[in-house]
Amino acid sequence: MEQFLELNCLLVKVMMIEENKEKEISIAFIGDIVGRPGRKIIKANLERVVQKHKIDFVIANGENASHGFGLTVKNANELFNCGIDIITGGNHSWDKKKDMITLLESKPVLRPDNYPEGVPGSGVKIVEIGNVQLAVINLMGLYTMPQVLNPFNHILEIVEKLEKDNIKHIFIDFHAEVTAEKRILMQLLKGRVSAICGTHTHVGTDDQEITDGTYYVTDIGMTGCRDNVIGMESDIPIKKALTGLGGHFNVPNNCKSIMQIAIIKIDEDGKSNDGFKIKIYDDKEEVISHCIVN
Ligand SMILES: [Fe+2]
Repeated sequence: MEQFLELNCLLVKVMMIEENKEKEISIAFIGDIVGRPGRKIIKANLERVVQKHKIDFVIANGENASHGFGLTVKNANELFNCGIDIITGGNHSWDKKKDMITLLESKPVLRPDNYPEGVPGSGVKIVEIGNVQLAVINLMGLYTMPQVLNPFNHILEIVEKLEKDNIKHIFIDFHAEVTAEKRILMQLLKGRVSAICGTHTHVGTDDQEITDGTYYVTDIGMTGCRDNVIGMESDIPIKKALTGLGGHFNVPNNCKSIMQIAIIKIDEDGKSNDGFKIKIYDDKEEVISHCIVN
């Protein structure tokens, strides 16, 4: 009888471990996709990366995916067909306004949640990945950005509600210009969310960390042309810098490109326990950088 009970206990333990394993997820995040070169390098590489690293869910910022400004329905569908599961946005979300409204109504496409009330769409989506509920949140910073609600007060309200609903897996794309705003968000939410990835500057930062189970990087960096000015042809930005005269920024047709993707492992309690970033170049070896776990 004693042996039978011991065996039963062991069986329950094994079942619990297996159940917890089912609640571990691996998510990937791709930074600002800029124009056709960005879409092209994703098409060439994403499926392979997903298979190799056993990724369950792919999030990408797509506010620059169509000619560098906004997102069309056609290009969004192209990205979904490559394996992206949800697309976030930012200050350029409305550059293709008609298409964006269609996407917000019909597809897993987000815009920053702290736009004022009355703006179409949402910046929060809860998705099911097996037994896990993952909240994907898109938020925008203040400095040099359009008029939005205070992102810090706003996110605290969202996270409190998610905690009440027992949703532990929480990912935030914080679209902001200023590094300090991004660090503030990390310090404000560490231990309470699974991951915070910064976007918008298009320049990746070398500061991945996991602190109290929260994965963080100030900016993941763009996916697109890398031999110019943040994915755009250099001539107009240079002219603007020299003369103060503006012009329309163009995405080059031919360029050297880069894809930047973060891969984050999240345990059954919504805590990240591993994270790394892959830089894929169209003409060089891949570079993988790992994060520090505090
Ligand atoms: Fe942006």
